Amino acid sequence: MYLLAPSILSADFSDLKKQIRSVEMGKADWIHCDVMDGHFVPNITFGPIVVEAVNRITDLPLDVHLMIVSPDQYIEKFAEAGADYLTVHQEVCIHINSTLKKIKELNVKAGVTINPATPVDTVEHVLSEIDLLLLMSVNPGFGGQKFIEHVLNKIERVRELKEKNNYKFLIEVDGGIGIENVEKCLRAGAEVIVAGASIFKSENPTARTLELKNALSDFKIRKNIKK
Ligand code: DX5
Ligand code: ZN
Repeated sequence: MYLLAPSILSADFSDLKKQIRSVEMGKADWIHCDVMDGHFVPNITFGPIVVEAVNRITDLPLDVHLMIVSPDQYIEKFAEAGADYLTVHQEVCIHINSTLKKIKELNVKAGVTINPATPVDTVEHVLSEIDLLLLMSVNPGFGGQKFIEHVLNKIERVRELKEKNNYKFLIEVDGGIGIENVEKCLRAGAEVIVAGASIFKSENPTARTLELKNALSDFKIRKNIKK
């Protein structure tokens, strides 16, 4: 399964409904919502109120990426707002198992994410209990940054661990992905692709979404032929 999750971080917030419709028309699979608190990352975006509004705009699953220092405090609010996936940063979770448990108890899928500089080993102990592992391929905080190449090795390592242990989580990659490098992420093992600027800063977000979706389905077809 390969999925595309457009990140609304680079969308025009004065017309969010239209922006979301544009990626729905391009057959987006999820909507990625980047929550930033100005502490964990040097930027502030939005909180549960906007996630709740996005949930009323679309029926697509909401993939909520929490770039905040105290996720435990807000998990319930984001669950109520309609998050389908809630992803927390390993770097700020002192008791990550209890944070993940809390998310799952609210019937929300639980994800963990690591920054480009954080080793995969730091999350190995939770791989059996998560629904999503998000590998950041830029330092979080802003859309439109350059993809960090060494993350490809981390994607491969995670894929190996997943295959070896038959884990169920999805491998998601976030940051600096566009039509020019999506395939190398898929080849390394990515299953969910987040794309912000490459979609919403393009002239035609629907066409760009379709183009990325085609790249995902072409990859799937080629992979199946090889088998
Ligand atoms: C970065 C965010 C990303 C970002 C991706 O902090 O987590 O989701 O929106 O945007 P692009 O695709 O523009 O790098
Ligand atoms: Zn994100």
